[in-house]
Amino acid sequence: MSTPATDEGVDPVPAALDRTRVPVHVACVMDGNGRWASARGLPRTEGHTMGETALFDVVMGALEIGIRWLTVYAFSTENWRRPTDEVRFLMGFNENLLMRRADELNELGVQIRFAGRRDWRVPRRVLRRMDDSVELTKKNRTMTLTLAFNYGGRAEIVDAVKALVAEGIPAEKVDEKAIRRHLYYPDMPDPDLVIRTSGETRISNFLLWEIAYSELIFPEVLWPDVRRRHLYEAVIEYQRRVRRFGAVNP
Ligand code: IPE
Ligand code: IPE
Ligand code: MG
Repeated sequence: MSTPATDEGVDPVPAALDRTRVPVHVACVMDGNGRWASARGLPRTEGHTMGETALFDVVMGALEIGIRWLTVYAFSTENWRRPTDEVRFLMGFNENLLMRRADELNELGVQIRFAGRRDWRVPRRVLRRMDDSVELTKKNRTMTLTLAFNYGGRAEIVDAVKALVAEGIPAEKVDEKAIRRHLYYPDMPDPDLVIRTSGETRISNFLLWEIAYSELIFPEVLWPDVRRRHLYEAVIEYQRRVRRFGAVNP
């Protein structure tokens, strides 16, 4: 059940949420922007625009309950298959969002990172903006917000294997730790919780290595309608789950 918003429009933290057992790392597949727009007779890109409010409300909610790592899927290696106009919009949108929000995130103590391939198809000025926001926020420690942009889980594993081979690591030295050390962010803990909105129950190439033991939650809400209460609800559901990591219950 949804918690109603307060008069100020900000969802309070429900009493049922145990602040001593908050997941360290939450990852979100921000899905359903296109359907949100289509349902209103609007162009799909309008859904992406409205998704920004959702993202920032979730960031605020994550800060409020002390989540240390938040990773969001902004553009996949497969999203290049979309119509050129939509791809162009998403590239520019990302740049625009950083222009308007990097200072705000910096003031909140958020460290911004990007996970994904630096590809010739990503416009140079977008890359520059990404680098600037990483540089601006690199000393922040309150929360790390990783934007998975031109990201693919398989591509990340391929890149890790390439790096291992390039270093000349012998086959007998290749183990899980060696692969992890060559992922995009070896210091990033695996997600405890993955939330994919819009009712789709698939992973779509998100963090394949890292989600081996993540708890997965698939709320029906479309991303542009998401507010921090949806994060709180997912965290409460997460706290009900028993994580066994292959072992038996204590
Ligand atoms: C997610 O929303 C945003 C991106 C993939 C960039 P979609 O654009 O996939 O929205 P739907 O799934 O078509 O509704
Ligand atoms: C995953 O959503 C990618 C992002 C949210 C950025 P998609 O909408 O691209 O995934 P599919 O195509 O439904 O699997
Ligand atoms: Mg989608």
